[in-house]
Amino acid sequence: MELPLKMNRLVIVFFILLFLILFFSCRENKASENKIAVPSSELAVLMRKMTTHCDSLKFCLENDLRRLPAFPPEFNKMPIAKRTDPEIRQEAFEGLAKYHLNTWEKLYTAKISDRKEAYSTIVRSCISCHESVCPGPLKRIKALKLNSHGE
Ligand code: HEC
Repeated sequence: MELPLKMNRLVIVFFILLFLILFFSCRENKASENKIAVPSSELAVLMRKMTTHCDSLKFCLENDLRRLPAFPPEFNKMPIAKRTDPEIRQEAFEGLAKYHLNTWEKLYTAKISDRKEAYSTIVRSCISCHESVCPGPLKRIKALKLNSHGE
């Protein structure tokens, strides 16, 4: 009965090692999380990507470039993305987010001559949701408006 006993020890050693690895990797995670006071929600990360994407669109439209950067499919996750503030009712948020995605679809299906107007509708939709649920980034969002395009 020598062999099974050795095997058992091996198994135990293996689990101890596994435990140590997991334990130390978790500790590292905690340490790096502490540096950022509040960990970013899934929605916050998505919003930042949308903002940078709008910066690129604004550049293309103001310089009359014909090719727009492709629509990032991950934007479609917006209605169900985890939010920092669960206070806003899920249904209400989903409704607004779906309306917003609809404005994106309109831009990507618009004729070249209608793109500026379609882009401005996206930014208006950003602003109207933010005015009601999250006024913090409004200044940053208003900077996304086209210089050549009204308001
Ligand atoms: C349906 C409502 C809604 C729409 C539309 C919307 N946002 Fe947001 N946005 C939010 C909410 C809610 C947050 C807070 C995210 C969180 O912390 O979970 C947020 C956060 C942000 C932030 C801060 C992200 C950070 O670093 O914490 C920026 C910047 C932003 N949005 C830009 C935009 C832009 C640009 C658009 C339009 C392209 C837009 N948003 C459209 C609801 C919306």
